[in-house]
Amino acid sequence: MADTIKKNIAVVVGGYSGEYDVSISTGNAIYANVDRARYNLYKIVIPRNPKAGWYHLTDDDKQIPVDRNDFSVTLSTGEKIQFDLAYISIHGNPGENGVLQGYFDMLGLPYTSCGFYTSALTANKGHCNPVVRSFGIVEVAKSRLLHRNQISALDPEALLFDFELPVFVKPASGGSSVATTKVKSREQVVQAVEDAMREDGNGQVLVEEFIEGREFNCGVIRDAEGWLHVFPITEVIPHGDSEYFDYNAKYNGSSSKVTPAEVETQVSDRIKDVSTMLYDLLDCRGVVRFDYRYNPELTALYFLEVNTIPGQTPESIVPQQARAAGISTADLYHMVIECALAAASR
Ligand SMILES: Nc1ncnc2c1ncn2[C@@H]1O[C@H](COP(=O)(O)OP(=O)(O)O)[C@@H](O)[C@H]1O
Ligand SMILES: [Mg+2]
Repeated sequence: MADTIKKNIAVVVGGYSGEYDVSISTGNAIYANVDRARYNLYKIVIPRNPKAGWYHLTDDDKQIPVDRNDFSVTLSTGEKIQFDLAYISIHGNPGENGVLQGYFDMLGLPYTSCGFYTSALTANKGHCNPVVRSFGIVEVAKSRLLHRNQISALDPEALLFDFELPVFVKPASGGSSVATTKVKSREQVVQAVEDAMREDGNGQVLVEEFIEGREFNCGVIRDAEGWLHVFPITEVIPHGDSEYFDYNAKYNGSSSKVTPAEVETQVSDRIKDVSTMLYDLLDCRGVVRFDYRYNPELTALYFLEVNTIPGQTPESIVPQQARAAGISTADLYHMVIECALAAASR
């Protein structure tokens, strides 16, 4: 019976962004936790240098080249491995922005993430935010999208026109809060825009209204039977020198993550409802995480961004949320795999 044949799964890690190491950690966790009695797993590495070849990393640390014509690997025994599924665990370029998804679409190889279009749209906050605003179910901060080609000289008056300080300045396609600045004075804004423009691959930058309040995250996944699961929400609270969820707060432990968040049920229900709706309105697949700011004084909920390849190490937010819902980290990975295989066979 076809169902009893073990599927070959490529765990695709690495990538060109600064989140390379996080991706490797996520990949290692998937590799260590997924049940080998159910699936054959192969680590595939896309190196940081886009010109370098991709390879399969064996358990004894040997590198076997990937044939990109059909995404296959030929082992030293001569056996050619072809894959039934790619488990994409690359944050940023090319795993979270539609590039890898487009390649796999052309090969007809199923993968665990959102499709190429949703991945590309959601990877650009300047393009995704107006789409989310148009759904009319959640607030989105007022912002101005700038492109390097439009600008000859940066003028603080023009950049900040119609905004009150502070503002957030960030690369439209950034991640991990890199080159993101909370701008508190007019003198800071030009430098902030230049930094963000340098970081963004397409030279696109957002100047965004500051949203006062608390920050919440919410993971959503569709299971193999088609049911949506929305996880208990998390509050992220920066500590010490971190005024917001900056790089330090995210990766150097200068923050706490409280799951389930200690907040009125009304607020957590609203966040879960909005996340469930956004999952389908944006045509998401696999496990995704929606991030929000909530202003308690105005009881206003603001969409911040959606991460279509959220961190999935055992310490990451989504696995924490899954555990709070009684789903082990290993079972979360199994759900991600099963839902992608089920979608591919429909
Ligand atoms: N408009 C805003 N108001 C308040 N805080 C913000 C705003 N935009 C970003 N931040 C803070 O910066 C962090 C990173 O911004 P985000 O848009 O999520 O980009 P990234 O993709 O780098 O995570 C957020 O987690 C939040 O703490
Ligand atoms: Mg974020």
